[in-house]
Amino acid sequence: MKNKNSETTINIAIDGPAGAGKSTIAKILAEKLGFLYLDTGAMYRALAFKLLSDSISVNDEKKVEEALNSIGISVQYADGKQKTLVDGIDVSDKIRTNEISKAASDVSRFPCVRNKMVDLQRKIAKLNNLVLDGRDITSFVLPDAEFKFFLTAKPEIRAERRFKELIEKGSDITYEKVLEDILQRDKNDSTRKLAPLKITDDSKVIDSSDLNIEEVLQIFLSEINKNLNC
Ligand code: DC
Repeated sequence: MKNKNSETTINIAIDGPAGAGKSTIAKILAEKLGFLYLDTGAMYRALAFKLLSDSISVNDEKKVEEALNSIGISVQYADGKQKTLVDGIDVSDKIRTNEISKAASDVSRFPCVRNKMVDLQRKIAKLNNLVLDGRDITSFVLPDAEFKFFLTAKPEIRAERRFKELIEKGSDITYEKVLEDILQRDKNDSTRKLAPLKITDDSKVIDSSDLNIEEVLQIFLSEINKNLNC
């Protein structure tokens, strides 16, 4: 395994639609391998959170671009856990609502936003052995990543998982609304002009619809070990 501080780091890139289980798997993998985990969606969410807090429309490209010049999005690690900060304030716990999911998807289509986030993601990836998940990691952020995965599942299954998570957090949302939002977000994320969600030819595709976390993890680990050992 290469050294964390050497020129070359190992990056494991995982793309896929909302609710496919990317972050769950990425966190476990990172812990098992002693890598850091970068949740790139959290960066778009943090920006959306700040814009909504400042009453700036996430659909107004000009205003978003102006605001971006003065908004500082950063990532820190404490005990190996990612904290996502806006202007130095940790917003990690506030960015998991359904409203922020939609706003993050909307604002992520603007080039000014993507450029800023992608620059930061590449810098972090250059310095650290990293497992990172998102929508455009395998295709755009790190096309030369050592490991590339596309993790997906049927929309109904993803919606069910997301619904359970939101209900556990005290939300009174319905399953139908969660499914509708997931389908809308799939459409937004995969049809935007810049770096849309897509499967690259060299990504290993894993469908987690009928698999539990342990089964998905074993597929990831066998793929990684196969290549690390050769
Ligand atoms: O992974 P997530 O659900 O936290 O991401 C929220 C939104 O952020 C997602 O709908 C689209 C956007 N996003 C993106 O455009 N590119 C990424 N690499 C990660 C997220």
